[in-house]
Amino acid sequence: MTKDSNEPNGTNGDMAAADYFATNPKPASLDRQSAIARAFIEQHAHEGRRVALVTSGGTTVPLENQTVRFIDNFSAGTRGATSAEYFLEAGYAVIFLHRQYSLLPYSRHYSHSTNCFLDFMTHNVAGAVVVESEYQQQMAKVLERYRKAKRENALLLLPFTTVNEYLWYLRELAMQMRPLGANGLFYLAAAVSDFFVPAERMVEHKIQSSEDFHQETTNGEGERAPAAHMDGKSLMIDLDPVPKFLKQLVDAWAPQSMIVSFKLETDPALLAKKARYALEKYSHHLVIGNMLSTRKWEVLFVSAEGGEKWIRVPATRRTKSLTGRDGDIVENAESREPAIEIESWIVPEVAKMHSQLIEKAKLQE
Ligand code: PMT
Repeated sequence: MTKDSNEPNGTNGDMAAADYFATNPKPASLDRQSAIARAFIEQHAHEGRRVALVTSGGTTVPLENQTVRFIDNFSAGTRGATSAEYFLEAGYAVIFLHRQYSLLPYSRHYSHSTNCFLDFMTHNVAGAVVVESEYQQQMAKVLERYRKAKRENALLLLPFTTVNEYLWYLRELAMQMRPLGANGLFYLAAAVSDFFVPAERMVEHKIQSSEDFHQETTNGEGERAPAAHMDGKSLMIDLDPVPKFLKQLVDAWAPQSMIVSFKLETDPALLAKKARYALEKYSHHLVIGNMLSTRKWEVLFVSAEGGEKWIRVPATRRTKSLTGRDGDIVENAESREPAIEIESWIVPEVAKMHSQLIEKAKLQE
């Protein structure tokens, strides 16, 4: 794959995407999960409910077919799992396409946290295991919302691990969601790898680090060398670019749906510029820019209709004392914590924009 073939605009981008699915294997679980998704979408389309596909968590890039080593993308799944809850609250049905074992809607309140879930439990006088009284009220609220989502079959959980699985699922779900027209929403919060090992350049077995056990580093004649191989004591990794699928999603896979992408940056000078660039390049509806360090209390909305707008929730400063070996305070570390979940402001804004798009689509019918 050349650099040009990764260009998403025009023929080269289309070619790269088509080529990708012809040369990289379909996940074994895709057909089964696709049938489940179809039934889910049909149910909600029949009830006239909007459906949001929320992607969440990081994609992996395996270096071996029988995978021992892989490269990962940063994302705990907080943005996606939290947003999914607010979409459900706003009346959406949600397909939650997430990295396996990353945070999930509702259970996120009690997993991956600094407390083990057992720290929320205690024994009552009769010896039964119950929730500690200080957590009762909050857990009852979460439980009620979780049960409602289950009762209404409003939340479908679909896991992925690799970038290949993610891309196959994204395309399949986009096709399944087409009948929804403007009632479909794509909220792409997953952190998707920009580089990968194509199937034809993947080695089968664990790469041997010991020089005494080095494997062949060239494939057959005319074939490209494996993407990851040992060179002396060094592991050499030469990854191909992942075609940018946003263009295909917007133009071909889901042309009537609302599409929201995220842009993650670490350099504040680049955030607005890169978000504007993505909007212009892919011509979708909204880019939500966020900085790694401040993503929990501020995001930048960039859209053709609304221009640029910061959403900021109040953040409180917390001072935590770090103690030395002898128990003395050696440092006061300051951290900022959002006073409320920023997704509780992001999602209603997105839903409002989605309503406007649906109204516009109705006028054009
Ligand atoms: O889960 P948390 O810890 O809360 O973190 C949330 C988050 C910071 C990961 C999230 O808010 C976020 O910013 N997600 C997007 C990160 C990202 O992948 O950015 P990107 O610049 O690589 O991609 C931008 C967009 O292009 C993405 O919406 C992606 O869907 C799309 N893309 C990416 C790669 C690719 N080959 N094709 C694509 O279409």
